[in-house]
Amino acid sequence: MKKTFLEKESYTGIEIIDNQHLEIIRIGNDLGFLIENSKNRDTIISGLDEFITAVEKHFIYEESLFKNFDYKQAERHIEMHRFYMTSLLEAKKKFVELNVELSGSVANFLNEWVKSHIISLDLTFGNEYLKTAANSVNSI
Ligand SMILES: [Fe+2]
Ligand SMILES: [Fe+2]
Repeated sequence: MKKTFLEKESYTGIEIIDNQHLEIIRIGNDLGFLIENSKNRDTIISGLDEFITAVEKHFIYEESLFKNFDYKQAERHIEMHRFYMTSLLEAKKKFVELNVELSGSVANFLNEWVKSHIISLDLTFGNEYLKTAANSVNSI
């Protein structure tokens, strides 16, 4: 499976967010390895759960920052998070309940979606957030 790598240009500059992004992608890469190499479905389900938990925790944290200032794109951004989470849970459901096979390319797709989301919406958010933080420091 092709591994996903987050380049420095894709860092938002918000340390907690960047660490969470790196963690999600690390777990996603591990998941791809598990899918391709493990014969044990439970092991793959644990990997999927770990990925889902990391994404969920991250979305909650990121969305909590939206409320710290008047972030105009919050609604659209949250919608994309929901869309992704729904697809993710759907993939797990198919695997668990319908016994559908997963391939390494599914994990790659999940990771690449995260990466393109970071490059588009998260970087835009990060820039605005840091600008607002800098402005509030300057106005003290
Ligand atoms: Fe996001
Ligand atoms: Fe994010």
